[in-house]
Amino acid sequence: MARTDTDVLVIGGGIIGLAVAWRAAQRSLAVAVVDPAPGGGAAQVAAGMLAPVTELQYGEEPLLRLGMASNERYADFAAELTALTGLDTGYRQTGTLAVALDADDREELRELHAFHQRLGLDSQWLSGRECRKLEPMLAPGVRGGLHVTDDHQVDGRRLAAALVAACEHTGVTFHRAEAAELLVTDGRASGVRLDGGGTVTGERLVLAAGCRSHLLPGLPAGVLPAIRPVKGQVLRLHVPPLYRPFLSRNVRAVVRGQHIYLVPRADGELVIGATSEEQGYDTTVTAGGVWELLRDAHELVPGITELPLAETNAGLRPGSPDNAPLLGPTALPGLVAATGHYRNGVLLTPVTGDLLAEYLATGTLPDLAAAFSPDRFTTKVSA
Ligand code: GLY
Repeated sequence: MARTDTDVLVIGGGIIGLAVAWRAAQRSLAVAVVDPAPGGGAAQVAAGMLAPVTELQYGEEPLLRLGMASNERYADFAAELTALTGLDTGYRQTGTLAVALDADDREELRELHAFHQRLGLDSQWLSGRECRKLEPMLAPGVRGGLHVTDDHQVDGRRLAAALVAACEHTGVTFHRAEAAELLVTDGRASGVRLDGGGTVTGERLVLAAGCRSHLLPGLPAGVLPAIRPVKGQVLRLHVPPLYRPFLSRNVRAVVRGQHIYLVPRADGELVIGATSEEQGYDTTVTAGGVWELLRDAHELVPGITELPLAETNAGLRPGSPDNAPLLGPTALPGLVAATGHYRNGVLLTPVTGDLLAEYLATGTLPDLAAAFSPDRFTTKVSA
């Protein structure tokens, strides 16, 4: 058999692809990443809330287990990245307060609290007064809330930079180009043709291209479902030193049926997110999106309107048909998926890196990934 250029070829250098590349390289595999701008993607926009408990949805218990497993790994993951690269990831153990603004919201949060209790999760019900004692900037109308002390935060941009550096330190090769076509040889994924010329081959390929994963030219039909782009518009405010701490933990609520959250960083950045819009690959920041975020955030924390608005932008969450990730081997031999993380890409980065690296090094995918096999969507594959 002809020799390949590398053991593992990762297509897509967002935080998911980088974590897989880094962890696989630590297992003594030769690893290359194909991406025109490694470290880019949705993590550049994400607020970085690590919230498996406060974002829990009914019927998503396997995702909860995966999210909790990743959350538990975060402190060590971040410390290891910092020790290796000297770069801070912005990981902070702040906890999260999910609050209710009216009687309907309070009822919904009460139900979430009861669900937490049935699952043995750590969340504490607080009165409106107790919420404001924790976060004095909250609106006087807050009717109660849930305090979850283990839902933390990380800075997606810092995390991406640290992962690029960690890959470089660990010997990962970067091909800074677009993957123009997947190459399939004798029914097996064998490499990619690069935009601008040249090919790179690999023993195993990892497809980690977010909401563009299924669009890779050359990918046989039926291997991956469509990964839909779900746009999120996000605002970044700046809290001047005089006003700090403006908020001490992540604060979230559902306002008029829309999720809103505020994530305060140690350096004074206050991230407000996020809209949820399904309109294709458009990342335009709209007046309506910014208005809705400011209106809802203002209802929750009126003082935000005093703060400088530093940045607005939009990213695309990669949503699979059941909103859970695709992790592990696909129906195309040689091709492994690490995509479809939807709202949980930042949270699931450490566990995705570990699970995929274990599979790439040993051929065995840990049980934790069993519910996320790509073959749950596989139709007949035709090359
Ligand atoms: N995880 C937060 C979001 O996707 O908006």
